Amino acid sequence: MFVCICAAVPDAEVRSCIAGGARTVEEVGDACGAGTGCGSCHGRIDTFLLAAQDPTVGLPRTA
Ligand code: FES
Repeated sequence: MFVCICAAVPDAEVRSCIAGGARTVEEVGDACGAGTGCGSCHGRIDTFLLAAQDPTVGLPRTA
């Protein structure tokens, strides 16, 4: 499932970036390119960042 369509970045790669230390949407973009196109996925990336800190946060559906 893709989180970022523009960069074709799947949810597993976003999680990997966060596990590797990315703490902001910009840092996720630097690590894997997600969010560096149209920007429409920033909210989804932000939710992954929040879910990494709080497991009670529900993850968004991805394309
Ligand atoms: S869908 Fe992620 S930058 Fe466009």
